[in-house]
Amino acid sequence: MNLILLGAPGAGKGTQAVKIAQKHGIPHISTGDIFRKNIKEQTPIGVVAKSYIDKGQLVPDEVTVEIVRLRLMEEDAQKGFLLDGFPRNIEQAKALDKFASVDTVINIDVRLDALCERICGRRVCGKCGKSFHITTMTSEFCDECGEKLIHRDDDQPETVNARLAVYAKSTQPLIDYYKEQGKLESVDGMKKIDEVFEEISKVLSK
Ligand code: AP5
Ligand code: MG
Repeated sequence: MNLILLGAPGAGKGTQAVKIAQKHGIPHISTGDIFRKNIKEQTPIGVVAKSYIDKGQLVPDEVTVEIVRLRLMEEDAQKGFLLDGFPRNIEQAKALDKFASVDTVINIDVRLDALCERICGRRVCGKCGKSFHITTMTSEFCDECGEKLIHRDDDQPETVNARLAVYAKSTQPLIDYYKEQGKLESVDGMKKIDEVFEEISKVLSK
């Protein structure tokens, strides 16, 4: 099962990806998480990525595509994969088509006003990246690995606006790109987390 999760910043891609990956036994590959790990470890990729992520811009395609290409060659991705946050523009989608086949693209549809509220209230685990929200979290520590929850650097309002603009210009066209290929399935991301997951599970069991 080779899957892509599409959706605006804050739509709930990471939240759903953890559940889907667990249920189907496929690796959850988030380019955002890979970049944040590199930034934390101060690798050369991390230094480059940080300069773009801090401004809400996309990391250059040649860097991002190569990371995904290499990751998909790893053993655990041979039985399927779930891409979260990649591709993010038509160029990346065309590059992906050259080294992997995609079965289904799930688009999580969420209203703009809800996106801002979700992102501004988000806290993430500094270790595993799991997302929480200030209105529902019961602890300041991750319930999976016990690490302290943090506010992502790019979740400040001015960076969020830039990310939303990049999404509208570069990423949204992927909806039509995959619709034309007959691979797109949209789910209502305004529902509760478990209801969204149920909808995705239905789509994937077709
Ligand atoms: P990335 O990490 O991918 O960020 P993003 O796409 O902006 O998406 P988010 O992680 O912000 O949101 P999400 O959809 O995962 O939502 P979440 O589940 O956390 O990318 C970061 C940056 O890295 C980019 O800006 C770019 O610079 C760079 N980058 C990454 N990939 C790249 C690529 N391919 N090319 C170039 N550059 C790239 O949920 C959000 C909040 O809402 C949480 O608090 C959660 O608890 C809550 N929530 C989730 N679902 C629901 C629900 N149904 N109801 C109520 N609350 C909910
Ligand atoms: Mg995410």
